[in-house]
Amino acid sequence: METCPPRHFLTLLDLTSAQAHDLIARAIELKQRQHRGQPYLPLQQRVLGMIFEKSSTRTRVSFETGMAQLGGHAIFLAPRDTQLGRGEPIPDSARVLSRMVDAIMLRTFEHETLELFAKHSQVPVINGLTDRFHPCQLLADIQTYIEHRGSIQGRTVTYIGDGNNMCHSYINAAHLFDFQLNIACPPGFEPSPLVLKTDDTRCRLFTEPRAAAQHADLIVTDVWASMGQEDEAAARRAAFADFCVSSAIMAEAADDALFMHCLPAHRGEEVTAEVIDGPQSVVWDEAENRLHAQKALLDYLLANA
Ligand code: CP
Ligand code: NVA
Repeated sequence: METCPPRHFLTLLDLTSAQAHDLIARAIELKQRQHRGQPYLPLQQRVLGMIFEKSSTRTRVSFETGMAQLGGHAIFLAPRDTQLGRGEPIPDSARVLSRMVDAIMLRTFEHETLELFAKHSQVPVINGLTDRFHPCQLLADIQTYIEHRGSIQGRTVTYIGDGNNMCHSYINAAHLFDFQLNIACPPGFEPSPLVLKTDDTRCRLFTEPRAAAQHADLIVTDVWASMGQEDEAAARRAAFADFCVSSAIMAEAADDALFMHCLPAHRGEEVTAEVIDGPQSVVWDEAENRLHAQKALLDYLLANA
């Protein structure tokens, strides 16, 4: 019997622009509903498997809480406690797990591992972060911007720091949500040219963070050493020394510019305490919105699956 391939969420580009806008609107609605204490239980009897090959606070808790609030259940799977950690092949793990659960979230290193897993899964696979992309975070970031300032279309976002998974997902978001993206990175730490090709009309590369920040509506940064790059931390601290988001950088942006960071943050490295704990920072709303945006995502992927 022919079955439809599942709807995966491996990068933001698995959504059309219209679907992405609908999903954010739904996230805002589900947040209001949750805050009013009105239950919404479309995923009763549904189970999300969550495989974490890297640490997590926000992603784990937001998916687990989200499934509970939607009436379903989530299972946390750590490689060291499962056969994945003992070398069971990815395709076999995907085949087996996807016969039991209704969706699978995977946080791993190489993006190709996620793609391989998805290829052999009968159920939707969600990217909970790879070395290349972090699309769930961008759903929360865009929701947060819209809640505070309205539409992001035509706005200028400045990303300062490493051309990493967050930067790559911002490039995809610029394309889907139609905003200008200024990216300031030290030489050698630029985003992948392949990812940049997604939208070379909306993205501009800078080597000077102050120049990149001019007139920005949103300033974003991320850690200088991502998970898996711990050995490079000292060298990266030296390379990124001029890329700390400080009040001087914020002063280059629009007066009502917001500051975001996916967290965890290192005060005194990629951002000063004054900025992240200051009035322009919306990082706590951004973190909370992981829950609401992912509930909208789970509902979209699973409700009619
Ligand atoms: N921002 C984010 O993904 O946080 P965790 O690593 O805690 O999940
Ligand atoms: N770039 C960071 C994001 C953490 C949420 C990392 O990959 O570790």
